[in-house]
Amino acid sequence: MLNFPIIGLAPIDGVTDVVFRQIVDECSRPDILYTEFVPVNGLILGKPVITKMLLRHQTKTPIFAQLLGNEPDNFYKATIIALEAGFDGIDINMGCPDNNIVKRGSGAALILQPKLAQAIIKTVKKAVADWGKKKAFVSVKTRIGFNKPIIKEWIGSLLETELDIITLHARSYSERYSGHAHWEEIAKAGAIVRGTKTKFFGNGDIKSLDEAKKKIKDYQIDGVLIGRAAFGNPWMFGGHSPSFAERIQILYRHCQLFNQYFPNGDFRSLRKHFVWYVKSLPHAADLKNRLMKTECLDDVKKILEYSGDDEIADKIGNGSDA
Ligand SMILES: Cc1cc2nc3c(=O)[nH]c(=O)nc-3n(C[C@H](O)[C@H](O)[C@H](O)COP(=O)(O)O)c2cc1C
Repeated sequence: MLNFPIIGLAPIDGVTDVVFRQIVDECSRPDILYTEFVPVNGLILGKPVITKMLLRHQTKTPIFAQLLGNEPDNFYKATIIALEAGFDGIDINMGCPDNNIVKRGSGAALILQPKLAQAIIKTVKKAVADWGKKKAFVSVKTRIGFNKPIIKEWIGSLLETELDIITLHARSYSERYSGHAHWEEIAKAGAIVRGTKTKFFGNGDIKSLDEAKKKIKDYQIDGVLIGRAAFGNPWMFGGHSPSFAERIQILYRHCQLFNQYFPNGDFRSLRKHFVWYVKSLPHAADLKNRLMKTECLDDVKKILEYSGDDEIADKIGNGSDA
């Protein structure tokens, strides 16, 4: 069930894996979580690297699987796989600006193919209905246009499919992540969606929980998603300011969970999280440099235990295994 208005964690490739989703959920319980984009072609072939993207931690927080591709039949099969894995909704990626993805006709390229985009949404809706075990949501996350905003045509075309949710990142494909998000385009889209059965989330450049609440109120929308502001800040959705020791404790828990979910995973992939966790800490440069050389949980444990902070050593020592 979704209780509107929603303040949720946006899908972020390479970041919002099962480990980070669980960490954010434990720290501040957002109203919704999303997987990173999961390529449907790889998923239906059972590729292990793709399949592991659909690991789901135990929680009552709704989690949507985000699917990426451009062939309706493959979306049908991928939807059934994601629903069987326990996801509460299917979000279709129609916004990714990565050149490799766009040149293959997926992600933001679907903005240029509104009929195909509609066919994909209808197919996912059919898969959800055919599966039929419980209510599951169908949503699309997209951008305001390809080279320039085309709110009326694009949002109007999506609405014809009577999907459950549209999330709009207020930049065009051409803008990628540059400049400011154009919230005035969210206002235009909100006015079109309001009064239909479809719910509407805004997204782009939100920095705090207070700002999220203000955007929902000012733009009269059903929710917002927050991405980059949650990097290193899984407390984002509760408004809590963590102490130094709490930050370190969560960094350590993040490593523990990584080992639990991905025992053969590349531990070095955690380094970006280390940078984000410690960047706001005083005298963090030395700590960051040492964390950047770690290869396993034990390396991290040694650095943190000898950090000279009794509270940290205590928390790490008592940190329960995941
Ligand atoms: C590194 C990176 C990876 C992203 N991966 C995805 C993705 O997998 N799926 C998606 O729909 N959006 C993805 N996005 C876009 C974000 O979900 C979000 O729309 C964008 O960052 C703007 O929101 P923010 O300012 O709150 O971060 C990604 C963004 C970044 C920076």
